[in-house]
This record gives sequence, C-alpha cells and structure tokens, in this order.
Amino acid sequence: MTSSPLAGLADQKSQLLASIAALESLEQLREAEPRLIGKRSVLASLQKSLGSLEPEARREAGALLQEARRVVESALEERRALLARDARLRLLEADRLDLGDVVLGALRVPAAVGHPGLVASTQRELEDVFVTMGFNVADGPEVESDWYNFEALNIPPAHPARGLWDTFYVDLGEPETVVLRTHTSPTQIHLMEEAVRSATLPIHSVMPGRCFRRDTPDARHLATFHQIEGLVVDRGITFAHLAGVIETFTRAYFGPDIESRLRPGFFPFTEPSAEFEVTCTICRGGGCRTCSQTGWIELGGCGMLDPAVFDAVGIDGDEWSGFAFGFGIDRCAQMRHEIADMRALIENDTRFLRQFS
Ligand code: PHE
Repeated sequence: MTSSPLAGLADQKSQLLASIAALESLEQLREAEPRLIGKRSVLASLQKSLGSLEPEARREAGALLQEARRVVESALEERRALLARDARLRLLEADRLDLGDVVLGALRVPAAVGHPGLVASTQRELEDVFVTMGFNVADGPEVESDWYNFEALNIPPAHPARGLWDTFYVDLGEPETVVLRTHTSPTQIHLMEEAVRSATLPIHSVMPGRCFRRDTPDARHLATFHQIEGLVVDRGITFAHLAGVIETFTRAYFGPDIESRLRPGFFPFTEPSAEFEVTCTICRGGGCRTCSQTGWIELGGCGMLDPAVFDAVGIDGDEWSGFAFGFGIDRCAQMRHEIADMRALIENDTRFLRQFS
C-alpha cells in the first residue's frame, strides 16, 4: 500500500490547532480563516488527493479527514467566541461609567447650592442688629382680625386713617372682619396682651414679618412686603430713647456715614408720631432723583405709644410708657444694595439672586 496522503494528518492537525491558538484578534482570525479551513487550506488539498484512493481506503481516509476538519473547525469557532468576548469586554471597559469617579469629581468641584434670598438675609441682619442692642425677636400671625390690625391700634371702623392701609380682606366671618395684616403693628398688640396676661412687662422686642397691601407693585412698592416692628414698654421711656434707638440702628446697619432724622408724622397708634428718614444711599445726601433732591429717604414710622393703645390692652399708662417703630425690610435691602426696582426682589431671576449669595 502506497503511503496514505493522510500520513502527516496528525501533525498537520496539531499545527492548525497551534496557529488557531496563536490568533490574537478577530481580524487576524478572519484573515487566517481561508488558509486554515478554506479552499486553499491543507485540509482542502488533502480532500482533493483522496480522489486517487480506492473506494474502501477513500471512505476510511475521508472519515479521518472529516474528523480532523471537525476538530479544527470547532477549535476555530471556540477561538472566535473567545476573541469576540475579549473584544466586547474591552469595549465595555472603555465605555465604563465609573460612578465613584463622578462622585469624587463632584466633591472636588463644589455643587451649586442655594442661599437665602436677599429679603431673608436682610431680615436676619436686621434681627442681629436689634438683638445686639438688647431686643428679642417675636413673631405674629399674617392673618389678623380687624381688631388687631386696626381697632386696638386706635383706628376704629370707618376711621379715615384706614385709607392709609389699602387692605386685603379674607372671606371669613362677617364681611371685612378678617384681614391680611397691612403692617406688623398688630403684633405689638399681641405682645402687650400677652405681657399683661403673664405679668411679664417690660417689653423690648422686634417683630419682623410679611405684610400685604392692595398696592399696584412699582419700583418702590410691592403688594406683599416685609416690615420689622419695634416695641419698647418700660418705666420712664421717652422720645429721646426712641431717637437714640433709631440712630444707633441706622449707623449699625447702613454704616457710619448714613444718618437718620425724624420728621413730624401721623399714626393713630402713636403720639407724638414721626416719620423716620435716613440719608439717601444713592447720592449720600447730595440730592438725586431717587430722593426727589431732598437727600433723605423715608424708611418707616415711629412714635410714643398712644394712651388709647395702652387702654385697649390694659396697660397702666401712669406706670409704663413706650415707643414703637416700624419700617420696610424690602426697602432697607433696596437702599443698602441700590436696587433701582423693588420688583426684582420677587421675580426670581437667578442673575439677580446670585449677586446676594
Ligand atoms: N405700622 C406703620 C406702617 O405700616 C409704621 C409704624 C409702626 C408707625 C410703629 C409707628 C409706630 O406704616
């Protein structure tokens, strides 16, 4: 028997398997594939040479060759699957979103966090100034009965002075008996009533809070705004104490070159009453459009507590005297930061808000 064309098959098979194992990428595999198992492969030429064999030997050799081809093809498929998996893992690795990195990155660049708005921070600063001067801070309701907002403050129903406060009425109880407070002065009444009830006079308090008036918003007015009220009830309190508190506060909040002055005014709940003005912060007193060339800007009202108010809350005016003042927190912020139009305070434009962080 002549030597079989398949004599070197085992060697050839292991060479093929070795080259398959040496393939390092899918591209290499695709390139090598025709050479390994295609028409130009050793296996293909062996297949051809089988034609010269006797049918019996050809069947035997054919089966051997078939088996060798099956082993080589399955080695190639295994290699292909392995290389494909490696390629996929490499892609995933390159694409991987490392959440740990993102968190650490965010910590290195501080996240943008919010901050109190200008009105809130102004209120806190004002509270700080008054607390330093010995006042405590009190709170009162935003919805009041007519009695607290007006009557107890010596403004009886139908009194013409009510026209000073354009009032929002709440649809509760008898018509026009429940109001959104038009000023913080009703909180004075609550504090005095409470002090009488609990026998805790004297009072040295400031009361900041939100107020409401049926005003059309413009550059210097908002329909929802903030006031801070001050109330002192003690023995021997005079107008000089009031003026001193106003002046001390003005310099502490606005700075030493801003002064205050009191001009005669009228409020039903104080007697005498005064309007409280400070040097115009825009022109520093020289006169400009904002202050109508006067050099002064009105901030609020003040005065000595009217005996009618003491009567309403049951305080003995022979033993006690006191003063009150009230002014706009929004107005303070506007003047201190030279804000041309107060409506910027409620528009929530972040370009405006960011300036006061
Ligand atoms: N409540 C007054 C206002 O709204 C201001 C004021 C407070 C006046 C206290 C005198 C005393 O305008």
